[in-house]
Amino acid sequence: MKEQLKTFLDIATEAALAGGAVLQDYLGKIEDSIVEKGRPGDLVTAADKASEEVILEIFNRHLPEHAILSEESGELGNQNKKFLWAIDPLDGTTNFAHQYPAFAVSIGLLIDGIPQIGVIYDPFHNELFRAAAGLGATRDRHPIQVSNTSELNKSLLVTGFAYDRRETTDNNYAEFCHFTHLTQGVRRSGSAALDLAYVACGRVDGYWERGIAPWDMTAGIIMVREAGGRVTAYDDSPLEIYSGRILATNGCIHDTVSKELMNLPPLSTWGQY
Ligand code: IPD
Ligand code: CA
Ligand code: CA
Repeated sequence: MKEQLKTFLDIATEAALAGGAVLQDYLGKIEDSIVEKGRPGDLVTAADKASEEVILEIFNRHLPEHAILSEESGELGNQNKKFLWAIDPLDGTTNFAHQYPAFAVSIGLLIDGIPQIGVIYDPFHNELFRAAAGLGATRDRHPIQVSNTSELNKSLLVTGFAYDRRETTDNNYAEFCHFTHLTQGVRRSGSAALDLAYVACGRVDGYWERGIAPWDMTAGIIMVREAGGRVTAYDDSPLEIYSGRILATNGCIHDTVSKELMNLPPLSTWGQY
C-alpha cells in the first residue's frame, strides 16, 4: 500500500506542478476571460480551465481507472468511487484575478471516502506541499509540523467566507469577529488550500470555514493530519467531506476553538470581552 501511495503522490505532484506552471503563464493575462459562475464574486477564468485541462490529461494518462471530482468539470471517470481525486485547478481565483499572490493548485485523493494523498502547489512562491497517509507531510520535500501554540489568546487563525455570504446569516461574520477578539488575529487569505497548508507548516495555529467543497479541502486535510494536527467538524465530530464545514488546528487549541464555535456569544455582548 505504501508503494502505491508513493506512486499516487508522484502523479499528483506532476499534475499540480503542471497546473501551477499554467497558472503562472496566465497571471496578469486573463482580464478578458473573467466570468461570474452564478453568485456574485464566484469567478472562473481561462486560467482555471487551462490548469484543469493539463491536470486531467495527466490523470487520464496515468490513472484512467480512477474517479475524479474536479471543480470546473464535475464528476468524471469511474462510477466506482473507491479512488476519488478531488481537484481544484485554481484555488483562490479572486486573488488570481487581482494578481494578489495567494492561490494554489490543490489535488487530494479520497480512498473509500478518506483523504489519503494531498498535494498543494503555490506557483507564485514556488512552494510545494505534499502528504500521504503514514508517510508524513513536507514543504519543498522537508518535513513539516503544526505549531505548538496551546493558548487561544496567543494564536493566529485563518478563515474564509463562502460565495453565498450575501444570502445567509450563517455567513461566518459572527465567528470572524468573535475570534478576532479572542486571538492575536484572524487572517483571510482567499485560498482554503493554502490556509490548510499553512496550518500544517505552523504559520497559523488553526483554520475553520463553512461553505467549502471536497476539492478545497481533501488535500489540506491529509496535510494537516500528517503534520500532527487535528481535523474535524466544528463540533469535534468526525469530518464529513461533503458537509462543507471544517475545523483544522494544531491539535492543542482544537477543543477550545470547537467549544467557541459551538457557543458563539450574542452580538450584543461584543466589545465587552
Ligand atoms: C475559494 C477559496 C476561498 C474560500 C472559498 C472558496 P475558489 O475557492 O478557497 O478561500 O473562502 O470558499 O470557494 O473559488 O477560489 O476555488
Ligand atoms: Ca477552491
Ligand atoms: Ca477553484
